[in-house]
Amino acid sequence: MSRVVLAYSGGLDTSVCIELLRERYGYDEVITVTADVGQPEEELREAEEKARKLADEHFTVDCVDEFVREYCWRAVKANATYEGYPLSTALARPLIAQKVLEVARDVDADAVAHGCTGKGNDQFRFESYLRAHGGEEFEIVAPVRDLNLTRDEEIAYAEERGIPVPVDVDSPYSVDENLWGRSIEGGVLEDPSEEPPEEVFEWTVSPAEAPDEPEVVEIEFEDGVPVEVDGRDDPVEIVRYLNETAGEHGVGRIDIIEDRVIGLKSREVYEAPAAVTLLEAHRALEAFTLTRRELSLKASLEEEWARLVYDGLWFDPLREHLEAFFDSTQRHVEGTVRVKLFKGSATVISRESPRALYEEELISYEEKQFDQRTAEGAVKLHGLQERLALRRRG
Ligand code: ARG
Repeated sequence: MSRVVLAYSGGLDTSVCIELLRERYGYDEVITVTADVGQPEEELREAEEKARKLADEHFTVDCVDEFVREYCWRAVKANATYEGYPLSTALARPLIAQKVLEVARDVDADAVAHGCTGKGNDQFRFESYLRAHGGEEFEIVAPVRDLNLTRDEEIAYAEERGIPVPVDVDSPYSVDENLWGRSIEGGVLEDPSEEPPEEVFEWTVSPAEAPDEPEVVEIEFEDGVPVEVDGRDDPVEIVRYLNETAGEHGVGRIDIIEDRVIGLKSREVYEAPAAVTLLEAHRALEAFTLTRRELSLKASLEEEWARLVYDGLWFDPLREHLEAFFDSTQRHVEGTVRVKLFKGSATVISRESPRALYEEELISYEEKQFDQRTAEGAVKLHGLQERLALRRRG
């Protein structure tokens, strides 16, 4: 009896994988795992229903709360974006892989499988994680990539074998969703000279159609993470609420050219209303509470963190070293930020913090506490090296 556990989304790629794993790889049993990382409820139910027909056994693993606390909140502390992308898909991959391995151990499987193609980033993320944490115990297979299947070949295969094809199979878009964001690729988006059509967006209204009245959300942070937003204190609820509220104001649309791990440039469209709003607020609070040197070093380390996550190297020990530094700074990132949502923008309009390094009495033009004359000597010496360089070098 050979048994394989497949990371299952319910989409075309992974549905086709179930049958391929039996037919082409000879596994006797295929067990599917869907990790609930906050994708829409219908998607989870649809995956379960299909798995009931196609797989020998199916597990839906609820890990939304873990996803927000252990992944999204770390991303907030790291102000994480990669080339402008808040990393939603990338962040969830190691967690999904972890759940797949847990089930594989429970059912005593021989192999684990994923449905990634050979062009994207997700194969790097799933596979490196699976190899690092289960490479000795399990065989690792990627049927769609191995067999070099195109989308049309997959559809033909599905129809031949009576595999239910997703209802939106005529939609040319490839979509991945979790609580931190929605990623859209494919179809007309592959032509970077074309504006994304309105139909690709689901979480955000067009900024042009957004309400004429702005809305203000109040976000309270402790230790660098949101602890209360407009009266909500549950992390999952906070993110859901902000996705909805900011989305209604057209906040969180991102359209970029992105450098994939493999080196391909691709046109990527995202919707991430909560992530965009929270990152904006968090950056503003850091600007208020951290020293300029803390901020400057942190900015360069943030980039390292984001690249690790993008590249699927969540388990690189460097991530923990970086987080040790971030956490040490985040002890001081405490306070309340208000963000105004209006026609596609999320603008910080106020910040308050018991740890602010901002001192109104010092900066105010109205106050005499800071004697301007003490600056004179410092100003005279400012640019000393540069002055000498001008003179010596001509
Ligand atoms: N470019 C993004 C990333 O690499 C999004 C990937 C979306 N994945 C998908 N299967 N549609 O994280």
